[in-house]
Amino acid sequence: MAEAKKIGVLVGSLRKASFNRKMAKALLGLAPAGLELEIVEIGELPLYNEDLESQVPAAWSSFRQQIAACAGVIFVTPEYNRSIPAAVKNAVDVGSRPYGKGVWNGKPGAIVSVSPGALGAFGANHALRQALVFPDVQVMAQPEAYIGNAATLFAEDGSLAVEPVKEHMVRFLQAFEAHVERCGK
Ligand code: FNR
Repeated sequence: MAEAKKIGVLVGSLRKASFNRKMAKALLGLAPAGLELEIVEIGELPLYNEDLESQVPAAWSSFRQQIAACAGVIFVTPEYNRSIPAAVKNAVDVGSRPYGKGVWNGKPGAIVSVSPGALGAFGANHALRQALVFPDVQVMAQPEAYIGNAATLFAEDGSLAVEPVKEHMVRFLQAFEAHVERCGK
């Protein structure tokens, strides 16, 4: 059997009790056998500043290496003021430079947005799609995952307690496995 493909999971919230982190952890357990999901941390990345490219911060190098080693990436993000949290945009920017040597190039990607609100962080989901166009992340179009009412979704142990949402995420990950195959990375 072929080795499972490593997929980096980036969590857009930095707070400990984050619903998005709970979702990311739940995805780790729901992935098909062909994918090995692993959280790639973004909270310690210094803010992108081109001047630092002459003496690259260790956290940037480590992040770039981790992403480069992945066959694909899944972003799990909240919405801040109808857009993406700064931490997510910073990670996209850090991975996109130096110019011509970005680590996103052609990688298959997927976006899950999670909010306690009813709209499932739709605005963040699509703002992130826009930010991933130039770095050339091949973002999966279907199925989409706008996950609302986050406060009602998780059991005490952090598992996904709402069956239709869990089933949707299983289908989402199966579709992502096929998307990764199609992108041929
Ligand atoms: C929010 N929140 C929020 N929610 C939403 O659905 N749309 C929005 O535009 C915003 N804007 C926003 C701005 C800022 C600065 C904060 C801190 C929060 C609420 C947000 O969805 C909620 O705090 C989530 O719990 C954040 O996700 P995590 O941390 O639980 O993963």
